[in-house]
Amino acid sequence: MGISNAEASAQSLEYQISDISLAEAGRHQITLAQNEMPGLMAIREEFVASQPLAGARISVSLSITVQTAVLVETLVSLGAKVRLSSCNIFSSQDEAAAALVVGNGTVKSPAGIEVFGWKGETTQEFWDCLDKTLDWSSHNNGQTLGPTSILDDGGDVIYLVHQGKEFETTGNLLQEESWDQNEFDVVRNLLERSKSKDAYRFKSLVENLIGASEETTTGIQRLIQLQRNQQLLFPVINVNDAVTKSKFDNKYGIRHSLIDGLNRATDVLIGGKVAFVAGYGDVGKGCAEAMAGQGARVIVSEIDPICALQAVMDGYQVAALESVVEQVDFFITTTGNKDIFRPQHFVRMKHQAILANVGHFDNEIDMVGLAAIAGIKAIEIKPLVHEWVLPSGRSLIVLSEGRVMNLGNATGHPSFVMSASFTNQALAQIDLAQNGQKMSKEVHLISKENDEKVARLHLTALGVELTTLSKDQARYIGVPIEGPYKANHYRY
Ligand code: NAD
Ligand code: ADE
Repeated sequence: MGISNAEASAQSLEYQISDISLAEAGRHQITLAQNEMPGLMAIREEFVASQPLAGARISVSLSITVQTAVLVETLVSLGAKVRLSSCNIFSSQDEAAAALVVGNGTVKSPAGIEVFGWKGETTQEFWDCLDKTLDWSSHNNGQTLGPTSILDDGGDVIYLVHQGKEFETTGNLLQEESWDQNEFDVVRNLLERSKSKDAYRFKSLVENLIGASEETTTGIQRLIQLQRNQQLLFPVINVNDAVTKSKFDNKYGIRHSLIDGLNRATDVLIGGKVAFVAGYGDVGKGCAEAMAGQGARVIVSEIDPICALQAVMDGYQVAALESVVEQVDFFITTTGNKDIFRPQHFVRMKHQAILANVGHFDNEIDMVGLAAIAGIKAIEIKPLVHEWVLPSGRSLIVLSEGRVMNLGNATGHPSFVMSASFTNQALAQIDLAQNGQKMSKEVHLISKENDEKVARLHLTALGVELTTLSKDQARYIGVPIEGPYKANHYRY
């Protein structure tokens, strides 16, 4: 898998994707998506003349979807060069990747973007693709060159840079809880190869890197750990915790794409069944609402008393998995934590219960523990849908091998909600280009002004009429007429 195209490299456009002939299908979808992504299209209009990203080399790691295509073409229209890889081995849409490479015209089009990723990468291929995203030497006569900024989803590219510098300096890797031994081995091998070619590659990359923006909750949690350990090497803009990201994409996006993934994978009726949602954060809230909306009876588990109280006030039963495991038809993980469903639970689950993870990493369902049950065997029902037959004769249906199933079994969140997330990303990259040199090496929130701007850009398309404050009212509640309207401590 992953065919390099000689014609493209002759045009100094590098890429490694599944099938370039899918470009036309991808382009049709991208064109439709643009109409559903008003925030990104408004950013193009606002900034195309001033080209705030001129000279920027952005290494992007996101699920390579149609929505991501609209984002990266927005970055390019503002002057940036982009190299793109996928943040998950199963989350690419091959037609979107092909359309990006071809650009708006042909393979020879200078608008083509360098893409490294396809649906169904191995772990080794995944890391090689991330490494290629960071390697801009083909733009520098083969001499070492890195990006000016990174746009990441989950933190793996940012971690690779940190690991690379650590390895070049000490010969060791930083501790990293999210990776298993295989992942460590693959990364170490990659860094050994890199070091033997250029022992200062990552050091020079860090020196020339302005900063990064990070898309998701798990990525932010990992970067905050680096910051706590005083190991964060450059400023990072926290896109996830923009209100117009986490309170929209994480909640309303998954409310759409969870059901999409379940239906495409199984077509099992949801109404009347029992759904167990582990975690009642932003994503858990969207999942619970989606399952309840289909008529399921929803049980939530939480470790946080505040979220547990929210769940019960929203009308859901709150219970520990151990108390209800035999009753459940759909098991859904949304915690960003590991080992939520384990072997002692698998053996108690109903025949043909469906297991679906939508958290960033694949360790919420203990797939290693499942495979290790003596006598168990897996049957592929169709791509990314497996029936695991237990020695008892009962079986479990596991989606996307335990990885994010709304992207593995479906195509992720719809365009409109991704427009809000990705408008924050575009504004974050502009902020890095204009102000990044002055930012401290910490994780920074998106400004309230930009957060409200992103919301405004999406109101017209939905036919929303906003009320305007009078001068007197503005003075009375102590806010400017044009906003921002809420203090930073306000929780929405
Ligand atoms: P969050 O922090 O708001 O919610 C996670 C919740 O899980 C928290 O309330 C936490 O208390 C709870 N939790 C932690 N350990 C638990 C355990 N052992 N049992 C039960 N509950 C537990 O995070 P979020 O924004 O909801 O994101 C959740 C995950 O989804 C992250 O990995 C994030 O990166 C990912 N994400 C996925 C998508 C997608 O499209 N699939 C989109 C956005 C975010
Ligand atoms: N994460 C969730 N849905 C997505 C999408 N459609 N594109 C990119 N990343 C996503």
